[in-house]
Amino acid sequence: MKLIIGPASIDLGNRIAQLLNIQPIQTFYKTFPDGESYIRIEDVAKDENVVIVQTTSPPQDSRLIQLAFMADAAKRNNAKNVIAVVPYLAYARQDKIFLQGETVSIETIATMLKAAGVDKLITVNVHQAKALERFPFPAKSLSAIPLLAEHFKKIGLNEAFALAPDKGAIHIAEEAAKVLGGEYGYLEKQRDRYTGQITVEKKTFNIKGKPTIIFDDIISTGGTIVAAAKILKDLGANSVYASCVHPLLVGDAEKRIRQAGVEEIIGTDSVSTHVSKVSLAPLICRELKELKSG
Ligand code: R5P
Repeated sequence: MKLIIGPASIDLGNRIAQLLNIQPIQTFYKTFPDGESYIRIEDVAKDENVVIVQTTSPPQDSRLIQLAFMADAAKRNNAKNVIAVVPYLAYARQDKIFLQGETVSIETIATMLKAAGVDKLITVNVHQAKALERFPFPAKSLSAIPLLAEHFKKIGLNEAFALAPDKGAIHIAEEAAKVLGGEYGYLEKQRDRYTGQITVEKKTFNIKGKPTIIFDDIISTGGTIVAAAKILKDLGANSVYASCVHPLLVGDAEKRIRQAGVEEIIGTDSVSTHVSKVSLAPLICRELKELKSG
């Protein structure tokens, strides 16, 4: 197995290389003055499986193109199979047609990656795992929620109440609660398909004086966490933490979340930020080792 560390996942890629004890294939990349991407892989990977680690958080489009170029370059060098490890899979939230005339963006991305040479894809907490069933190659979503919950346990938040900010993420809160040993619940969130504005319905949880953690797959603008944190505070939570797998933290998201009374935001190195305190490397390496032995 050979490893290519894409320009979007240097930190995570190096952690994976270290855990697998392999020397990554040297890659050279640059951006031309007009914004186009250039990628060259320096070693030849003839007849070997090649793993490419490249997240596709913003700037999504150029990172997807870089991923496609790396897959193509590996295939042109006679790689046997190209396994794309894409912790944050861009466009996964548009996994169906919500309004007439739209595209199913994630299916277009999958088709593009297939054409570039991707044979298999591993991602982490994709928005809806069901969407992967329609991919033109095997694709699997791993869950980093137990790792995040373990982090909170280590800092003394065991038995904290785990909250999913919308019903679709209830499985996330349930998974976290299994590790934390406390209770869990969910809110009902609606998003206006035209304005993007969200409304979160109030609910009652028995959390007075207790620590609480909001778990979500993505924090983008922070609007979801801000709305959920306000509800937890109103219900008398002793403390509110926020956790996500993919900390996109667009614009002043972090500031707004902190202003809503959230003590700390904890994310993973799916997206390399200063809140990325939990590494996905052990989770991904376990999966890659299983692939190797399988
Ligand atoms: C959407 O349903 C996702 O699970 C997240 O809740 C959402 O992407 C978060 O976005 P934002 O931070 O902009 O509210």
